[in-house]
Amino acid sequence: MALQYKFPKGFWWGSATSATQIEGAADEGGKDRNIWDQWHENEPNRFFDGVGPASTSDFYHLYKEDIGLMKEIGHNTFRLSISWSRLIPGGRGEINPEAVAFYNNVINELIAQEIEPFVTLYHFDMPFELQEEGGWENREVVEAYAKYAGECFRLFGDRVKKWFTFNEPIVPVEGGYLYDFHYPNVVDARRAVQVAYHTMIAHAKAVGVFRAAGIEEGQIGIILNLTPSYPRSQHPADLKASDAADLFFNRSFLDPAVLGEYPEELVEMLREHGQLPHAEKGDQKLVKSGIVDILGVNYYQPRRVKAKEHLPNPYGPFMPDWYFDNYEMPGRKMNPYRGWEIYEKGIYDIMVNLRDNYGNIQSYIAENGMGVEDESRFIGNGVIQDDYRIEFIIGHLTWLHQAIEEGCNVKGYHLWSFMDNWSWMNAYKNRYGFFSVDIETKKRTPKKSAHWIKQVAEQNGFNGA
Ligand code: GAL
Repeated sequence: MALQYKFPKGFWWGSATSATQIEGAADEGGKDRNIWDQWHENEPNRFFDGVGPASTSDFYHLYKEDIGLMKEIGHNTFRLSISWSRLIPGGRGEINPEAVAFYNNVINELIAQEIEPFVTLYHFDMPFELQEEGGWENREVVEAYAKYAGECFRLFGDRVKKWFTFNEPIVPVEGGYLYDFHYPNVVDARRAVQVAYHTMIAHAKAVGVFRAAGIEEGQIGIILNLTPSYPRSQHPADLKASDAADLFFNRSFLDPAVLGEYPEELVEMLREHGQLPHAEKGDQKLVKSGIVDILGVNYYQPRRVKAKEHLPNPYGPFMPDWYFDNYEMPGRKMNPYRGWEIYEKGIYDIMVNLRDNYGNIQSYIAENGMGVEDESRFIGNGVIQDDYRIEFIIGHLTWLHQAIEEGCNVKGYHLWSFMDNWSWMNAYKNRYGFFSVDIETKKRTPKKSAHWIKQVAEQNGFNGA
């Protein structure tokens, strides 16, 4: 029988992870500290159950078995990130040979199992020494990043063909410089804007280094969390609020990455509030040269907004939220285990927007997934019966399929994540994997969704619910 939802030939089935969230071995193999190691040491209370990044899911030691499991569930692609502070302790200077050996082993094992490695260069994990120098506020750190990127291309570019400069670059801006959920816990929009801007400058420099490296069949991209902003109503005030949220949180990175320039409206808003970043001569051209070949899209939940109910406090620090209030739509569908709305059609809306306004750039779903607390309550016959996750994936894949039917240039779907992993301040609170991980013994156990995705990947599609 023909499948109801069949995907294009060669569709990428896989999952995404990041170094800090899975590797563990934080003080092993010559790795130096990044901001997460240091922040956890300073303030363990900020992390769920006090759990830090020291050992996480121990991929550093278990990578071979893990890649075997990926193979078993039909992965043909897998995204990992390189830890900057592991490859170049301190962020600049000498390469750590143990790190090179580790990443070589991982990459070679993936390829041996016919799983194409996708590699992110930066996934929230600034080397601590460079943060001490000001992190992304400091243009010299941008230079250090470009060098680091060049080393990665040189060391691994013969085998890795899909490279991503940053994962969700807006998140360290929001977390570290506006809303206090990443180190260095600054609340200052001007500094936030500088960090965002320098991130894009760093991105463009890395793209330049990549082009110069001439990696055969190589593609360079960026991973953006494109949370669509839905207005409460069609009232002009609500529409204006959702446009502002879209400018701050989506177009601030999407426009420079895909169109090569910042939206004029965003620049105007920042100018009006005296929040424009310091730029250098030639930057505009540089940003233009950073246009990507491929875009990874992370989508978890929509953002609903409405016009502000109250005037912002003129004595408080400037915030993007001066332009909108978040809106809780009555009757919205919720993930009851994580407090996030589920809106499957969002994935379609994102893709249509990319098709119509961003030249139908080649893209893929780089992260989508469902976090659930304490999944042991769903064990039946020794297996976590995560039907809610299967349903979540089906809902999103159905809309993604629709987007493809309508001509959107989507090449694959990666779940967050392969196995349960360490989620920053939430540590191991919310579980996302196809495989559960016992954080004491590190034992991996397939959930029901692991068996299900294997079939989907092998058949390159599925039948609807
Ligand atoms: C994303 C992020 C991942 C992971 C995920 C689930 O925003 O890229 O690192 O933590 O959320 O919480």
